Amino acid sequence: MKEIRVGLLGLGTVGSGVVKIITDHQDRLAHQIGCPVKVTKILVQNVDKERDVAITPSLLTSDVYEIINSEEIDIVIEVMGGVESARQYILTALQNGKHVVTANKDLMALYGTELLSVAKDNQCDLFYEASVAGGIPILRSIVDGLSSDRITKMMGIVNGTTNFILTKMSNEGKAYEDVLKEAQELGFAEANPTSDVEGLDAARKMTILATLGFSTNVELSDVKVKGITSITEEDLAYSRDLGYTMKLIGLAKRDGEKLEVSVEPTLLPNKHPLAAVQNEFNAVYVYGEAVGETMFYGPGAGSLPTATAVVSDLVAVMKNMRLGVTGNSAVSPQYPKVLKEDSEVLAKYFLRLHVKDEVGVFAKITSLFSEYGASFERIIQMPLEEKGAAEIVIVTHRATLANYQVLLQKLEEQDAVKCVKASYRIEGDAK
Ligand code: HSE
Repeated sequence: MKEIRVGLLGLGTVGSGVVKIITDHQDRLAHQIGCPVKVTKILVQNVDKERDVAITPSLLTSDVYEIINSEEIDIVIEVMGGVESARQYILTALQNGKHVVTANKDLMALYGTELLSVAKDNQCDLFYEASVAGGIPILRSIVDGLSSDRITKMMGIVNGTTNFILTKMSNEGKAYEDVLKEAQELGFAEANPTSDVEGLDAARKMTILATLGFSTNVELSDVKVKGITSITEEDLAYSRDLGYTMKLIGLAKRDGEKLEVSVEPTLLPNKHPLAAVQNEFNAVYVYGEAVGETMFYGPGAGSLPTATAVVSDLVAVMKNMRLGVTGNSAVSPQYPKVLKEDSEVLAKYFLRLHVKDEVGVFAKITSLFSEYGASFERIIQMPLEEKGAAEIVIVTHRATLANYQVLLQKLEEQDAVKCVKASYRIEGDAK
């Protein structure tokens, strides 16, 4: 092959990084694939806009069909974001026999199975390493590096914005709103940060990870999601005192053939490797039956880190093109999906209650806990400023989610309990 011709959809943060890496690393790329890589067209909204990256103006177009219908282009890189247009463009590109690389987690979480099947039908590659945890090569590690193993658990800090917020709130005592603003200014929060702080961004990434790691068609609606917006300074302080660190954790777990996938604020023992992941960094902890514990750490966002993953996918496509094996990635789900019932999900919990400070309150609470099979591992009572009220913090032993949810409801209804201030899952043991 004389050269590989690439069309780029989008020239924002990631797109500019892709152009820079292809330009700066052209010798290394050509050495690996045996011919030069050339970006021949770039889709932008406004061809006249001034840009930070040096681009020959004739490369720019606002007509997507100059790329996805062009006979001159071998590979399309989609870094424009959004769902519906991106989906249509990728489908057309694949149907026109073009290989596709995308960084689009929203799209892959919702339509990954459909797009991968269209890619296969057209003998095309569709790679999406950058869609989960930016610069960390986690998808390839799961699909290739751990291909001989049976993965039973993946725990990830896969959203940089929320990790940044929790780190700054915990370590520096900063207020939630101030740190969120800082994350937006630094450029890693989504345009609408609701999807970061409400856990949806992490849920999309966990959908992709769980589908690949368990070779099962996990859908976004299978993920139980809770964000970080109600976490308070008190919760963080108690967590610390008890030897835990609060993180927004994406969890995908397999027991036998049954799966659970969730994203929620979780207390991890300080000694857990994920507890040490600070600021906007991401990490994915993967447990395989044979390999045991592994952890992958790095930048989860940013122009060049994310572009590194995109260009590595490009190299993977180009190697497959040279070998004549494109469209053969065996990533289509192999097993039927069986999700756990709430009565099969087991976890420890942290609970913070405000109660009436009067005789018999403890007995009433204790009796509810025993009724729903949740025993105490630790319990702390502190006086509150409000007269006649006290705060109780409880760490439970493992209980089923079904029982725990009823217990929470019964506590809310209990006269002696003024309110349930906070409740979080705990993974692991801080003792
Ligand atoms: N908003 C995302 C994050 C960007 O904070 O991790 C990378 O997907």
